[in-house]
Amino acid sequence: METKYFQPEAIEEAAQALKNGELVAFPTETVYGLGAIATNDAGVRQVYQAKGRPSDNPLIVHVADKDDVLPYVECIPEKVLTLMDTFWPGPLTIILPIKAGSLSPVVTGGLSTCAFRMPDKKITRQLIALTGPLVGPSANTSGKPSPTTAEHVYHDLHGKIAGILDGGETTVGVESTVIEIVDDQITILRPGAVTPMMLQEASDLPVEYDKHLIEESETPKAPGMKYKHYAPSVQVEIVYPDDFAKALEAHQNERVAVMASQELIDYYHIQTDYFILSQEHTSEEAATHLFAGLRALDDTEKYDVILAEGYEEEGLAVAYMNRLKKAANHNFFGK
Ligand code: TXA
Ligand code: MG
Repeated sequence: METKYFQPEAIEEAAQALKNGELVAFPTETVYGLGAIATNDAGVRQVYQAKGRPSDNPLIVHVADKDDVLPYVECIPEKVLTLMDTFWPGPLTIILPIKAGSLSPVVTGGLSTCAFRMPDKKITRQLIALTGPLVGPSANTSGKPSPTTAEHVYHDLHGKIAGILDGGETTVGVESTVIEIVDDQITILRPGAVTPMMLQEASDLPVEYDKHLIEESETPKAPGMKYKHYAPSVQVEIVYPDDFAKALEAHQNERVAVMASQELIDYYHIQTDYFILSQEHTSEEAATHLFAGLRALDDTEKYDVILAEGYEEEGLAVAYMNRLKKAANHNFFGK
């Protein structure tokens, strides 16, 4: 199958492919998603196949508007409406109990809940308005970094999907925050750009991280969080800025690539190959470029180790470090 790039002008053609039961990847503000119409079981099954995704890992249903959620739920509680009004469109995925039978088990993995999200990308909401809600796991091969450009999607999935709606590079760069709300308590199952403080301020509800995000021995509530993710073939080591000189020295007999801020690369006069994650030392910018960096440097012909800049875990840096720790298999320099 030939995989087409659909430019925004060709949105009708992309919608038609989806209506024919084919797969089309779409841009969002976080990462690209692999779209199929949520009510088309055959299409949704192909999503799992194309990605090589385990079938017990449920999908996010992407909507163009909050009202699109209504057919699938008994009601939207007031507190959830407040969260939707505050953060949608945006990088917040909300897990809600669904009406029995309203969505196929191929979407929900047989759970009595479903994850919903309204992406902050106008072209994609226009696409969803034409097709109806779309499932959208990240549009990478399972186990690869999530794609932040149309080219990343093409690299992983060409020949397996009908097309890619090209919306340029994504802005946030890490996947959405996933939450559930039980008994007036918000639990974050996956950290993202919407932080605990933002959720607490908007809802006045207590917010906690799912235990697995604090204790590695705990089982995650989001099935997808238990799988090994984003682990490149080249070994990744996390290095905090103050330790870079020592880490470079420790690896002097190896072929090293560095992933860090321009500031840090200048400060340490780094001579090896490098990928710039941010200009100044900001976790927002580092998160935007993290997956592109991991893809660019994952070359065992050239490198033995990637030294990647670590951040103190606060704000968006929690999401950045969550993804980086998985890529590094929790390998920190000096630990
Ligand atoms: O930013 C994003 O969320 C991107 C873009 C494309 O929207 N999508 C994305 O989808 O990251 P995916 O499938 O790669 O990750 C969805 C996560 C998985 O860890 C999955 O296990 C979890 O959400 N999830 C989905 N439905 C769930 C449910 N009903 N209960 C618990 N976890 C759920
Ligand atoms: Mg994913």
